[in-house]
Amino acid sequence: MEERAYAKLNLTLDILRKREDGFHDLRMVMQNVALCDDISLEEKSGEGISLHTKAAYLPTDSSNIAVKAAEVFARETGVNLSGLDISIAKRLPVCAGMAGGSSDGAAVLRMLRRRYRPDMGREELERIAALVGSDVPFCVRGGAALAEGKGERLRDLPGLPDCAILLCKPDFPISTPELFGLVRVKKLKFHPDTAGMLSALERGDLQEICRYVYNVFEDVLPRKYQRVWEIKRQMLELDAFTAAMTGSGPTVFGIFAEEEAAQRAAQVLAREYRQVYVTRPWNEKLAKAE
Ligand code: C5P
Repeated sequence: MEERAYAKLNLTLDILRKREDGFHDLRMVMQNVALCDDISLEEKSGEGISLHTKAAYLPTDSSNIAVKAAEVFARETGVNLSGLDISIAKRLPVCAGMAGGSSDGAAVLRMLRRRYRPDMGREELERIAALVGSDVPFCVRGGAALAEGKGERLRDLPGLPDCAILLCKPDFPISTPELFGLVRVKKLKFHPDTAGMLSALERGDLQEICRYVYNVFEDVLPRKYQRVWEIKRQMLELDAFTAAMTGSGPTVFGIFAEEEAAQRAAQVLAREYRQVYVTRPWNEKLAKAE
């Protein structure tokens, strides 16, 4: 069985409060893009769940979200997945803020549902997904959605109209817990206007949508990560309608009306950065409602 695992961007990311359990309540507009990994599953005769990939830097044990997803699915449904072999053809940048790992895990869950529990509703699949990780429910569903809570409460949205999206990931990781640790919710200077973003998406007006793109993590980004701002500035100078960091970074995305302008900007950024991509919004719902 094969599935594509699409990357996500945060068109908005807002942090509403710190919860009793140490996590934060978020409000995010999430959007899939066409850039993807290819995931396949095979049933073999071996013991346990195994993972194969040519990307030597990926873990192959349960610290890989794809393996964890299969383990959680087995635990929650009682299906015996011994002998399951997962293959990942990795294209998405890792530790990038683009849900690369969560998206692989979500693709595994969709395939396991199709193979072993075809009658399982999307709600139940997303409940299992939330046990795997905060971004996994959105990645299971795909397209564009408003995500609230830790990311498990989802509402479908009309996605970005067709446009060109430039992605640039500088060569350092940003630790998600470190960044959350720097946030004092009451001290955040700005919050995205999520309601404004939702109506702009309803209207499908790209330029208007771009005015509402905002990620509160940019407010607390330490100076050591100033490359993120440099990339943003470069993208804006190169005619992006907007540019922002996605998730807890460090990837910056820029939105362009035309592919040519995005490709020109990509050429400039590629002189300095190894991980530069031009992609498009991907609005297909990946898990059908029933
Ligand atoms: O979901 P993920 O595994 O990326 O989260 C990493 C860490 O980020 C968590 O352990 C927690 O410290 C923080 N976090 C949070 N609130 C969220 C999601 C993550 O505080 N909604």
